[in-house]
Amino acid sequence: ALCWKLPICFLFYQVVSGRAGLEGHYVAAVYEHESILSPSPAALVERRSALELMGRNLDVYEQQVLAAARQGAQIIVFPEDGIHGFNFTRSSIYPYLDFVPHSHSGKWNPCREPYLFNDTEVVQRLSCMALKNKIFLVANLGTKQPCERTDPRCPADGRYQFNTNVAFAADGTLLATYRKHNLYFEYAFDTPPQPDYAFFDTPFAGKFGMFTCFDILFFEPAVNLIRQYNL
Ligand SMILES: *[C@@H]1O[C@H](CO)[C@@H](O)[C@H](O)[C@H]1NC(C)=O
Ligand SMILES: *[C@@H]1O[C@H](CO)[C@@H](O)[C@H](O)[C@H]1NC(C)=O
Repeated sequence: ALCWKLPICFLFYQVVSGRAGLEGHYVAAVYEHESILSPSPAALVERRSALELMGRNLDVYEQQVLAAARQGAQIIVFPEDGIHGFNFTRSSIYPYLDFVPHSHSGKWNPCREPYLFNDTEVVQRLSCMALKNKIFLVANLGTKQPCERTDPRCPADGRYQFNTNVAFAADGTLLATYRKHNLYFEYAFDTPPQPDYAFFDTPFAGKFGMFTCFDILFFEPAVNLIRQYNL
């Protein structure tokens, strides 16, 4: 039952470093968002209407980031599927997917550099929330990654679709992405070819590792995240 109630299934993340702030503590906010859901998730819609629906959830996120920052939170974490919802098919979720570069090829600040990639409206808004409120922010969204026919694992529709966490620094920079490895009957999404070991550093509490929900029951990526990366 852990993951069946998706609206309350948070991104599981842990402080896996022993370091803490000078005062030995930090303030984290976790917002349990009741998503505004598409009334017909199996229907094919335009990107524009997908963005409109996600924008209503992001409006709530924006208020909560502001409220958390005002109360001194240094990091805020949002739940799995909180922006797009669930019960999609592989094709019906497509308009809800942002493009997020996965390779760690340089730093990207989506709020400051929105023009670098197409279909990044959701990550831009999240990045701007972090930047405006000077707070680290972790959220979950659907992402797409085009692939070539020469890649034997490339799905027939020419793209990977991932259940992805994104972490932003307090200046809006994208620090880390994590693609869920152990999907829970999520037929709209693909399992990444290799497990992601995703973590990011903070000035107030050292390193945070990321994995999502059902992942907590499995060896990969959680155990190796700690063993191999010695967090
Ligand atoms: C999602 O699908 C499940 C299983 O088919 C169904 O029980 C549930 O009511 C659906 N939820 C929404 C919000 O459509
Ligand atoms: C974005 O899409 C437009 C229209 O398809 C294209 O002309 C443009 O080159 C793309 N920009 C980037 C950064 O990929």
